[in-house]
Amino acid sequence: MNREMILVLDFGGQYNQLIARRVRECNVYCEVHPYSLSIEKIRAMNPKGIIFTGGPDSVYAEEAPNCASELFELGIPVFGICYGSQLMAYMLGGSVATAPVSEYGRAEVDTSGSSALVDGVGRKTICWMSHTDYIEQAPEGFSVTASTTVCPVAAMECRERDLYAVQFHPEVMHTQEGMKMLFNFVRKICKCSGDWKMESFAEKTIRELREKIGCGKVLCALSGGVDSSVAAVLLSKVIGKQLTCVFVDHGLLRKKEANEVEEIFGPGGSYDLNFIRVNAGERFLARLKGVEEPEAKRKIIGEEFIRVFEEEAKKIGAVDFLVQGTIYPDVIESGLGKSAVIKSHHNVGGLPDYVDFKEIIEPLRLLFKDEVRKAGLELGIPEHLVFRQPFPGPGLGVRIIGEVTEEKVRMVQEADQIYGEEIVKAGLHKELAQYFAALTNMRSVGCMGDGRTYDYAVVLRAVTTTDFMTAEYAHLPWELLDTVSSRIVNEVKGVNRVLYDCSGKPPATIEFE
Ligand code: XMP
Repeated sequence: MNREMILVLDFGGQYNQLIARRVRECNVYCEVHPYSLSIEKIRAMNPKGIIFTGGPDSVYAEEAPNCASELFELGIPVFGICYGSQLMAYMLGGSVATAPVSEYGRAEVDTSGSSALVDGVGRKTICWMSHTDYIEQAPEGFSVTASTTVCPVAAMECRERDLYAVQFHPEVMHTQEGMKMLFNFVRKICKCSGDWKMESFAEKTIRELREKIGCGKVLCALSGGVDSSVAAVLLSKVIGKQLTCVFVDHGLLRKKEANEVEEIFGPGGSYDLNFIRVNAGERFLARLKGVEEPEAKRKIIGEEFIRVFEEEAKKIGAVDFLVQGTIYPDVIESGLGKSAVIKSHHNVGGLPDYVDFKEIIEPLRLLFKDEVRKAGLELGIPEHLVFRQPFPGPGLGVRIIGEVTEEKVRMVQEADQIYGEEIVKAGLHKELAQYFAALTNMRSVGCMGDGRTYDYAVVLRAVTTTDFMTAEYAHLPWELLDTVSSRIVNEVKGVNRVLYDCSGKPPATIEFE
């Protein structure tokens, strides 16, 4: 087919699919392939441009991922991002070194001189960095087109050879003019016409699911969160009462949440679903006893979930498929591709080896959170459900540092409830992508009344983000923090200190585990 195509070569970065998505947002078709794709195959694909993603390696690492040097001679424009930029510099004779100062998060980049890639971008622009190595010196024939105070080559290009590179990540939302740079590359440098359109997600998925499921029976793991709610409603549109939704109350939900989920999806709620609620709190707590390591907790909770589903499935009889609301960041961060494992997201890396269903269906597997929300609206799900805050599958199990106990669950539930109430009262809930309380494993001395306390510290987190791949901590008003802090220590027994988390992602993650 003679479709214009941009080829993304995946060097294992966290944001590789995000790059593909941004290219598609420029209305240009795009495919992601492993960096090891042979030069013959690349030639045969005849891409209009090639993008190298970032990656966790150093170009000096043993078996560092690389590419054939002929790739730079094909006459096809190449755009290297982060590791991809370092690789380009290294392979073409520039110098790459460990940066004296690693940069993680926002950085002010100075774009100077004339540049095809940063054409139309402000002279000072905020970009998202995440690197330990950097390009010390650009290869001969390249001009440096951007820098920061600690990164001499934040962008470089060699126009004669159509080679471009940036140290930062233009694909993430926090790089304010990143989309402009990708557009410049794809549409102006590679000269793609921009005539490609994605088929409506809901229509396409409904058609595919109908073919796959036929008259089979399907069980859906419904948590009441955005992702599984969208998956459940999508499936109910496709197969109606062939679907049964099982809601497992693992006892690690936010205060009042279990009842809210039942009100919406249960009998008499907004949907005509077969709905089963399983109260399994004690069972999960027993399995988590003595377990402190966050990955171990995730795996236990993930496995126990599946076991509960299997038991319910047996009761229903002859269930063929299990539906889960797994979304793309869960897949990437679970390290199923080349990307480094950040954490085993519940229901993905957390799956046990043996699962007693014919097949698992994950209709949202390739979507980012904001795309899931768009799909939810497309499916007619009410806005208040679609824009609910995300909540991790393992729930408060991963918002309690260290061992999970009933007492700690109560503390974090109560603190979180107070925090949420005050955020809504201050009218900030729509501006924040996510806010929650977590419980540290730290106890410290305090004095309350006339007595000494030796109690836990609660940590408050609030972030702004669109795609949840990167995030900035929110600058909450001090007055709000005052109110929340004093309410929590006064109302939540066992807590004598409240902290606020001022970390972005990277270097932290959004969850606090
Ligand atoms: P992190 O903490 O990885 O979170 O920066 C990114 C987003 O994913 C949510 N999250 C999860 N969602 N199952 C989910 O469905 C999980 O296991 C899980 N862990 C994190 C997190 O709340 C944030 O919105």
